[in-house]
Amino acid sequence: MEKELGEASQPFERVAQAYEQMLVPALFDQWTDTVADAAGVREGQRVLDVACGTGVLTRTLAQRVGEQGAVSALDINPAMLTVARARGPQTVDWKQGAAGALPYGDGQFDAVVSQFGLMLFPDPEMALREMMRVVVPGGRLAVAVFGSLDKLPAYAAVADIYARVVGENVGQALRSPFALGDPEALASCFAEAGIDDVVLTGGNGKAHFPDVTTMILSDVRGWFPFAGIRLDDQAIERVIREAERALARFSGPDGAVEFAIPVHIATALKA
Ligand SMILES: C[S@@+](CC[C@H](N)C(=O)[O-])C[C@H]1O[C@@H](n2cnc3c(N)ncnc32)[C@H](O)[C@@H]1O
Repeated sequence: MEKELGEASQPFERVAQAYEQMLVPALFDQWTDTVADAAGVREGQRVLDVACGTGVLTRTLAQRVGEQGAVSALDINPAMLTVARARGPQTVDWKQGAAGALPYGDGQFDAVVSQFGLMLFPDPEMALREMMRVVVPGGRLAVAVFGSLDKLPAYAAVADIYARVVGENVGQALRSPFALGDPEALASCFAEAGIDDVVLTGGNGKAHFPDVTTMILSDVRGWFPFAGIRLDDQAIERVIREAERALARFSGPDGAVEFAIPVHIATALKA
């Protein structure tokens, strides 16, 4: 069954591999210890990673809980899970499923974590309610989201370029990961999920791409196809040319693109 699934979704597996190779080191890898710390993850615990993607946070969790602990990881996208499973570790219970209907029992985990998925869920409040449901009383939930686009001029500029060169829908796709970046919007999302005593922390991370072409191709190859967006070579060339001009102030002498990327970590304790 798993082999059939793998063969059927091969083009999407290439997308998931591009995500792992291009986007994870540029944006996601740097947050795993902070999120695990926020949830107080330690040896021997049972921990769940929601929207695990290719498993970058899951692997940090597995190291922390050790052989006496247990890690579960869930994502809606089978291609992401195929890449995650291949990287391991094999001890993780990888599952396909939706954050809004978690396939786990009440109070099954000492900690539940999720990084950079909440703003993409169709019903984030429902997902938060589900995540709290599966935390044991006294356990912790920690969720990371990007700050808003008005604090991120580099991605704001690239989103505008996509909107102008390719279409407003592609500009909107690039804006969507920043949709819960306003701290008040994030806190009210938790409040609507019945979680009032949320604590918001965070800070600036650093986005780092070897060059502008890699930054553009990381979305074109590692994410857009999952959203049904495919660009022809001419459009890609135009976007890269315009992005090279727009991102000049973020580019170093070696061509590397670097800019601060604000992140909020929302933490809640289950009573
Ligand atoms: C930006 S990626 C983050 C992945 C991973 N946490 C990381 O840090 O690399 C967002 C992930 O959310 C997953 N996702 C989106 N909607 C989902 C849903 N409703 N339920 C579960 N996962 C979902 C996507 O498949 C994707 O893997």
